[in-house]
Amino acid sequence: MDCTVITGAGSGIGRACALRLSETGAPVALLDVAGAAETRGEVEARGGEAVEFTVDVTDDDAIREVLDRLPGNPRTLVNAAGIIVRKTLLECSLEEWRRVLDVNLTGYFVLLRNIVPRMADAGGGSIVQVASIAGHTGYGFSSYTASKGGVLALTRQLAAELAGKGIRINSVSPGVVESGLNRDTLGNELIRSATVDNIPLGRLGRPDDIARVVAFLAGPASEFVTGADLVADGGMISTIHWGAAGGELHSFHSKEQ
Ligand SMILES: NC(=O)c1ccc[n+]([C@@H]2O[C@H](COP(=O)([O-])OP(=O)(O)OC[C@H]3O[C@@H](n4cnc5c(N)ncnc54)[C@H](O)[C@@H]3O)[C@@H](O)[C@H]2O)c1
Repeated sequence: MDCTVITGAGSGIGRACALRLSETGAPVALLDVAGAAETRGEVEARGGEAVEFTVDVTDDDAIREVLDRLPGNPRTLVNAAGIIVRKTLLECSLEEWRRVLDVNLTGYFVLLRNIVPRMADAGGGSIVQVASIAGHTGYGFSSYTASKGGVLALTRQLAAELAGKGIRINSVSPGVVESGLNRDTLGNELIRSATVDNIPLGRLGRPDDIARVVAFLAGPASEFVTGADLVADGGMISTIHWGAAGGELHSFHSKEQ
């Protein structure tokens, strides 16, 4: 039997991926340092099969033990566990920097190095890494941005390395999605409305917006896609935002014509 492994499955995007990917019928293994009992209950309530592991993705030995106890051969991996420390370069301590890089980048590496041999033995598979628009732009804070830039680079690097094993690897770069990660900042009305103003599609992202992209990248519809990143941000980084000057700019050009 095949199975799907999802990290960060207890909340937000990882949870939405668990619900979406459980629709394929394969059991989902839900990994989260804070547990994923609620997600397991939701998957089961929809008729899916789920197992839950309370585990830290940076713990190589613990991850290996979890992968030895999967309910099937891992054919899909979604690396989604992540944290953020909202501190500028000079505010961020070395410990904070290391922890963000450790969870967001090394944690992905730990899953990859342990799951790839199992996936290859099972005949191949598909890996989706949750990156961020922060990895593309200077949006965010240095440790987080560096970790997500690393995820994008790692994904590109591994496309060729893993192709011979029958494994595809892609990433999705979410824009601003309402989840546990930014519940605090989006609770601030000024930050919230400024964020929405910067999203051409006019709303914040929902975890399932990302899960549907993950399902596409994980599944057969994208069988010729590897080493790619798909930005899912409502258009946020597609353009320069002129704010109040936008209307002025438009009418200025209209007058010129
Ligand atoms: N929310 C956004 O706007 C946004 C934007 C771009 C990228 N992302 C990325 O999406 C991914 C999911 O984040 P989210 O927004 O759903 O946040 P979230 O906080 O709702 O979920 C993250 C989950 O990861 C788990 N986790 C944290 N550290 C862990 C560890 N060491 N081991 C195992 N699990 C751990 C948490 O317990 C939590 O359940 C992250 O990689 C994040 O960087 C989020």
